[in-house]
Amino acid sequence: MTKKRRLGKTDIEITPIGLGCWQFSQGSKGMSAVWDAVNQETINGIVDTALKGGISWFDTAELYGRGTSEQTLAKALTAAGVRPGQVVVATKWWPLARRARSIEATIDTRLSCLSPFPIDLYQVHQPFSVSSVAAQMKAMARILKAGKIRSVGVSNFSARRMELAHAALAAEGIVLASNQMRFNLLDRGIERNGVLSSAKKLGVTIIAWSPLAQGVLTGRFHDDPAAAAKVSTMRRMMNGFSAARLAKSAPLIEEMRVIGRAHGASVAQVALCWETSFHGETVVAIPGATKKAQAEQSAGAMGFALTATELSRIDELSKAAR
Ligand SMILES: NC(=O)c1ccc[n+]([C@@H]2O[C@H](COP(=O)([O-])OP(=O)(O)OC[C@H]3O[C@@H](n4cnc5c(N)ncnc54)[C@H](OP(=O)(O)O)[C@@H]3O)[C@@H](O)[C@H]2O)c1
Repeated sequence: MTKKRRLGKTDIEITPIGLGCWQFSQGSKGMSAVWDAVNQETINGIVDTALKGGISWFDTAELYGRGTSEQTLAKALTAAGVRPGQVVVATKWWPLARRARSIEATIDTRLSCLSPFPIDLYQVHQPFSVSSVAAQMKAMARILKAGKIRSVGVSNFSARRMELAHAALAAEGIVLASNQMRFNLLDRGIERNGVLSSAKKLGVTIIAWSPLAQGVLTGRFHDDPAAAAKVSTMRRMMNGFSAARLAKSAPLIEEMRVIGRAHGASVAQVALCWETSFHGETVVAIPGATKKAQAEQSAGAMGFALTATELSRIDELSKAAR
């Protein structure tokens, strides 16, 4: 069984890999349009496969189809025979153009979308809100003390904002559990902008989003560059899908293929293993999936360890691939 890690300094334990559930939005508008709609039956299969592979937690958000991802996740967990409390569920409040009081006004809707599963981690999705970080954290503290959530996290917060959030919660006797940030072998900004070092100092877990660079780090688009033209515009814009970027990351992908062979692992699994081990236990990852086989591979990334030489070789090539 995979060794679990503590989520920040909370008493919650999670596996190094969780399942990202943005793909369960079933929408064709806004942020949901990044992914092809996945039906409930397929979602049930993905969630069941993730659980069987040992994944113990799931990340969703209010934003993902305005509650649709939360609802489809809850249905899939129920279909898999999971009972409340047997897995860890993380979701997020959307702060844009909203005040902190909306955290308390909307938490019951989040709970009903996820019902019967409780919210183990409630995150502020991104830093742009009408209210201050301190006001948002005070509202989070109130719903935690009211027993509506188990822990508090943030997402896309700079080191300074994360430290502010940490301090505001500490004043309420609560720890900041996590900061969900984009982190993968083609985007290692958190290593340079102070977020990672500050998280290590504070004991805050970094939850890496887009750990597969939305598919680029699987090698699939290096094998079939024509497939890159078929993914959504937003997805292409957010990642290294252009011919020039794919050429730049090709040596990294090739090396991960060779390293993977020694472990019976795919390129995606090597990438996830590196991301969740290079910085010790600080970084966990939440790869998304639209197919059962992808969830199976993500879970399988917890089944082997990279050697120190392999970790540093990937580190080196990743720096040249960006
Ligand atoms: N906090 C934030 O601001 C934020 C932002 C973005 C994402 N997130 C969270 O992070 C999660 C993951 O990020 P993400 O979905 O952007 O990117 P990702 O996990 O890097 O990429 C997921 C996509 O990669 C492809 N894939 C996955 N496993 C694969 C495999 N083994 N082989 C081949 N292809 C594979 C699939 O693409 P196809 O569907 O095309 O097959 C899948 O939909 C999201 O679900 C969400 O929960 C949070």
